[in-house]
Amino acid sequence: MGDGVVDKEDLVVAYTRSILRYPGGKTRFAPFIQEALSLNKARVRVFAEPFCGGAGVAISLLEAGQVDSVALNDSDPLIAALWRVVFSEDAQWLAEQVRVVPLSVDEWKRLKASTPTSDRDLALKALYLNRTSFNGILHKSGPLGGWNQTNRTLDVRFPREKLANRILELSDLSDRVRSIRCFDWRDFVDELKQDDGVFLYFDPPYFHKAEQLYGHYFNLAEHIAFRDFVEELTVPWLLSYDDAREIRELYKPLRVSARVIDSTYSAHPIGGASFVGRELFFSNMKKLPSPDEDGCTHIGMSVKQYQKRKRASESAARIPWTQAAVEITD
Ligand SMILES: C[S@@+](CC[C@H](N)C(=O)[O-])C[C@H]1O[C@@H](n2cnc3c(N)ncnc32)[C@H](O)[C@@H]1O
Repeated sequence: MGDGVVDKEDLVVAYTRSILRYPGGKTRFAPFIQEALSLNKARVRVFAEPFCGGAGVAISLLEAGQVDSVALNDSDPLIAALWRVVFSEDAQWLAEQVRVVPLSVDEWKRLKASTPTSDRDLALKALYLNRTSFNGILHKSGPLGGWNQTNRTLDVRFPREKLANRILELSDLSDRVRSIRCFDWRDFVDELKQDDGVFLYFDPPYFHKAEQLYGHYFNLAEHIAFRDFVEELTVPWLLSYDDAREIRELYKPLRVSARVIDSTYSAHPIGGASFVGRELFFSNMKKLPSPDEDGCTHIGMSVKQYQKRKRASESAARIPWTQAAVEITD
C-alpha cells in the first residue's frame, strides 16, 4: 500500500463478493473501513481478521490494493478449511467439485451428516451447505426451498461457473495471504500482534441471536473478556458489533472512537426478511469517517444522547452509511 492516504473522491473499493453468503457478512462496510484506514494514515502490511467468516472485507481491501497482505482466522473448522483450500493449489480441485457436485436434497443430507477430516472435504462441505442452506447458515438450518423443494430449489444460489471462476480468481491472491488459522481469536492475535504493520479488524459473533447463526458464539463472559482484551491492545484495531444496548454499555467506559451505521440486512434468523439494522463500530484509531466532517475525533459514547439523536434520524433509516452515520460522543 502507498502512504495510506486516499482522497475521499478517489475511494474505490472493489465490491468483490466473497464466495460465501455469510450471515452477518461485512463486505458492504469495506468502503467505510478503507476510509477509516486512510483518515488515520494507517500503513497496513497485514490486515488481520480474527473472526473472518466470509472474509469479505479482507478480500475487498486486498483486491483493491489497499493492504499488502491478509491473515485470516475462524474457530469454525469448516470456514478455516475453506479458506485454506481456496488460497492453495487445492483451489483447482474445489472449483472442479463445484462444477459437478449434485445439487439435490439427498446430497445436501449426505454432506450435512458427513464428518470430513481432510481440508478438501471440509471445504466442499462448507461451501456447499453455505450456498444451499437457508440464509447461508451452516450449522442450524435446512435446505433452501425446504424439504419438498416446491416453490424453489436449493440450486438457486449455486451458480456453478461463476463460483468456480471466483475460486480460481481468489486463489491467484494466495501469495498475499500470510496465514489462515483455526484458532481461538486470542491465540491468533497473540501470534500476530508483535509484527510490523498489523491491523486487526474484529467482527465477533453478534450479541443477539449469534447462536442461531454460527457454530461458535460468545456468552456474556466472553463478550466482557473480549472487551477487556481490546481495551489493552496497542496494535491498531477496528471492531464491529450489532447495535445492542448491552454492547453500548460494555464499551461506554472505553476511550475509543465510535460510530453507529445504518445498514440493511438480508440474512436474519427472524423470518429471513430484509430489515434495517444498525452496526456499531469502535476503534482505538483517533478518527472514524463521518458523513459531515472528515476526520473529527470522537471519544467515548453516551447512550442517552444517542437515543435523542436516534429519534431525529429515524426517518433516515434506509440511507447508507455515507449519509446516515450517527456520531456518538460524550
Ligand atoms: C460475525 S461473524 C464474522 C463475519 C465476517 N466478518 C464476514 O464478513 O463474513 C463471527 C465469526 O466468528 C467466529 N467465531 C466465533 N467464536 C470464535 C472464537 N472464539 N474465535 C475465533 N472465531 C470465532 C464464528 O465462527 C463466525 O464465523
